[in-house]
Amino acid sequence: MSGVEHGDVFDLLPSLEADFGHAAVVDFPWQFNADNGSGRFESTGSDREFEVYQTEENDRLADVLDALSRVLVDGAWVFVFADDDTVPEFRECVEESPFTYRRTCVWDREKFGMGYYHRVQHYPILTATNGETDRYIQGRGTVYRALKHDGEASDSDYPTGKPVKLYRQMLAEPVLDDGERLLEPFCGHGPGAAVAAERGIDYWGADTNPEAVEQARQHLEQTRLTEGLVTATDGGESPSTTSGGADR
Ligand SMILES: C[S@@+](CC[C@H](N)C(=O)[O-])C[C@H]1O[C@@H](n2cnc3c(N)ncnc32)[C@H](O)[C@@H]1O
Repeated sequence: MSGVEHGDVFDLLPSLEADFGHAAVVDFPWQFNADNGSGRFESTGSDREFEVYQTEENDRLADVLDALSRVLVDGAWVFVFADDDTVPEFRECVEESPFTYRRTCVWDREKFGMGYYHRVQHYPILTATNGETDRYIQGRGTVYRALKHDGEASDSDYPTGKPVKLYRQMLAEPVLDDGERLLEPFCGHGPGAAVAAERGIDYWGADTNPEAVEQARQHLEQTRLTEGLVTATDGGESPSTTSGGADR
């Protein structure tokens, strides 16, 4: 069973049954630090507002991790996005959660542009497991390389949207095996939904933004459109000059 719910993760996540999911990606809607970078964000001439969607207090990540530990199977991996500002607090949060902190990986966006957030080339990704795990990924390395806009039909300019190619790498077996289910609270445009669709695995996502829900649902439904154009481990990368919303 797969679906994208339009609603509040803090209400929806605790209502899921135990052992419902086998891996989760948490791209938490932390508040942008507009002051950081001395206003360089504005220098991009971007016409986007900084508050592009509902944001949450950082310490609420603890509630998300608490709920996830109950709805994920034992040994499941969870990936938590962070940035330079949030990583100390989020790491503490992961370490104090029921999960076992593993390591901090890096998303290398491969290119960077103008403005404070656009200028950042890499983002930390905290990884943890639901207790001990036999899904070993040690040989995989700690850097995920993925262009912010990799030119694929399934990508979008959703603010802070992550490339599908990044999620393919994070979620490759044995993190998620056939017949299992990915959980993507705060799914945004649903890069996880796109990966689930490509691989024919189950998916649960949720977001309060109707536009995000619509895009994630489209990713889930487009299953077969991209088949044959991409591989499971890489993205058939096609660099694009498209510009989009802030990465944070
Ligand atoms: C960092 S963005 C996720 C971006 C996503 N990874 C992508 O690639 O598009 C965070 C998302 O959380 C959503 N959000 C904020 N508060 C929420 C809540 N309480 N429940 C559900 N979604 C929420 C926002 O609408 C936003 O889409």
